[in-house]
Amino acid sequence: MAIRLGDVAPDFTADTTEGTISFHEWLGNGWGILFSHPKDFTPVCTTELGGFAKRKAEFDARNTKIIGLSVDDVTSHNKWKADIGETQGAELNFPLIGDENHVVADLYDMIHPNANDTLTVRSVFIVGPDKKVKLTLTYPASTGRNIDEILRVLDSLQLTAGYSVATPVNWTNGGDVIIANSVSDEDAQIKFPKGVTKIKPYLRTTPQPNL
Ligand code: BEZ
Repeated sequence: MAIRLGDVAPDFTADTTEGTISFHEWLGNGWGILFSHPKDFTPVCTTELGGFAKRKAEFDARNTKIIGLSVDDVTSHNKWKADIGETQGAELNFPLIGDENHVVADLYDMIHPNANDTLTVRSVFIVGPDKKVKLTLTYPASTGRNIDEILRVLDSLQLTAGYSVATPVNWTNGGDVIIANSVSDEDAQIKFPKGVTKIKPYLRTTPQPNL
């Protein structure tokens, strides 16, 4: 069954390149991102793993752990690691789950048989500190993910978890945000002292409140 926003992220115990991990325990009290790769020793995945490795500090700064999955075993992953380091200019610095029996892939519905019945699609799940799924993304195997976009959504999720705001189209960190319609005009003046711009009764903006 597909995983929906607000569902508790299924827990699992799996072998990874950094030893056996129990997912919820490993997440601790922070945020987490789980993403799948169709197969080891494939070109797009190699670039993606190097890309995430290069930018891991940006996830750390957001109190967010990252973990990949590929449907081969850890022995294969460890051989692939050398290629990632050699070709991408970054060593794999986060765990990669060995999921040769598709246990986690099935739990998270990462195999879409009408696309391919053995390889995963490129799934992304962002999990909040409450262990609930905050975002799902699904890309085809032929399209590498955009790490800027994943960080952008993470920034939006972390901001909107703490303030009664939403983020508009193409928002990036530092941009004006939208005040939730549940906040009255009167309360908005108090909650958002940087200023409120009322474009329509249902469209009010304010400078990003957590900066
Ligand atoms: C890749 O990572 O390059 C890839 C993997 C599976 C199918 C197509 C591309």
